[in-house]
Amino acid sequence: MEIVDLSVYRKDFPMLDHKTMNGYPLVYFDNAATTLKPRAVIDTVLKYYEDETTNVERGDSSLSAMVSAKYENVRKIIGRFIGCDPEEVVYTSGATGALNLLAYGYAEEYLHEGDVILTSEEEHASDLLPWFRVCGKTGAVIRYVPLTETGRITPENVEKAMDGQVKLVALAGVSNVLGYALDLKEIARIAHAHNALFAVDGAQAVPHFRIDVKDADIDFLAFSSHKMCGPTGAGVLYGKKELLKKMKPLELGGGSNARFERNGKIILREIPDKFEAGTQPIEGILGMGAAAEYLMGIGLENIHAYERKLRDELVERMRAMDNIVLYNPDAETGIVTFNVKGVFPQDAGSYLSSRGIALRSGQHCAKILPDFLKVPGTVRASLYFYNNREECERFLKALETCTVENAVSVFL
Ligand SMILES: Cc1ncc(COP(=O)(O)O)c(C=O)c1O
Repeated sequence: MEIVDLSVYRKDFPMLDHKTMNGYPLVYFDNAATTLKPRAVIDTVLKYYEDETTNVERGDSSLSAMVSAKYENVRKIIGRFIGCDPEEVVYTSGATGALNLLAYGYAEEYLHEGDVILTSEEEHASDLLPWFRVCGKTGAVIRYVPLTETGRITPENVEKAMDGQVKLVALAGVSNVLGYALDLKEIARIAHAHNALFAVDGAQAVPHFRIDVKDADIDFLAFSSHKMCGPTGAGVLYGKKELLKKMKPLELGGGSNARFERNGKIILREIPDKFEAGTQPIEGILGMGAAAEYLMGIGLENIHAYERKLRDELVERMRAMDNIVLYNPDAETGIVTFNVKGVFPQDAGSYLSSRGIALRSGQHCAKILPDFLKVPGTVRASLYFYNNREECERFLKALETCTVENAVSVFL
């Protein structure tokens, strides 16, 4: 397919227009942590504050009716974004909120002693710690899919790890450290062949390529708005209708009940409302809808292809550098994980920051993976579609001078 130069969309991002860091124009390579926001999203949030402030689904005013309609319409937008029905879109505070809801609302209810949750050592804490708690409460146990030598999760290894005890396969669609993308459709097929459910942590996947939950036959998908150009404080748990109907809400309160009686009887509303007690982050959800529309306007296929090409070019140049160790040279997404030889990852991160480059170093919330990689931490540059070659050149130039002496001098 033809690769469209998406850096033309840089003009939509106010921060790319003016922002400097330590005297340099900002090179924002920390997109796996959070993405920048385009004007369309900022305007949507501002409009809510400046012109549309009201609560939703609990007011009699025309204003409330109008904003409620927009708020509900975001479910339709997300439905188009990931290929599901609007009622299968549960608003959450983010991927973490979505995974916790799934863990305690579903897994804790339906898993029993001896059941197995199949996950991996490269999961983000948000896709592991809730499962640890579920195991503590139910007597279920965690099993890790063996990783390949390079840290990949393959369908073959998932198949080998399956047996009748596995009731849930919980994996990230893309690792936030190694950037590898899973074959979601094949893993869903394997999970279902063994009567297990497949829950995908989509935090690093959904913003970067098209996931169609129906086509891939995914049971649950969790993701955050802020990693896909939307506001913080909002996210989604997608679940198949019949599973959401069985799932228990974690919070009770206004908006999620149809009625209640003085004897304590509570009649919950239908899905997805039964999960959304209390006032939700209205402006965040409206902004998330604007972000999903913005990304669909560019085309997720275009985003994926451009990001991959930019990344491949960058990795090729980094491969040729004597002072760089790469951990995921062949990953499918914009995450480039490396170390500068002899330089502690955090020192490298601080040095690069002093040269205007924002990225992340350390364990990236995947705290078991360093044992596998056999390093205390790594540096992670994560690209998105608004990054360009010029920024890569600046990054490479800074890497050339990233020595122990220079890194330490940042702190003097
Ligand atoms: C793979 C993965 N899962 C879950 C999360 C948690 O996302 P959030 O902090 O938006 O809830 C992250 C965040 O970095 C992530 O990378």
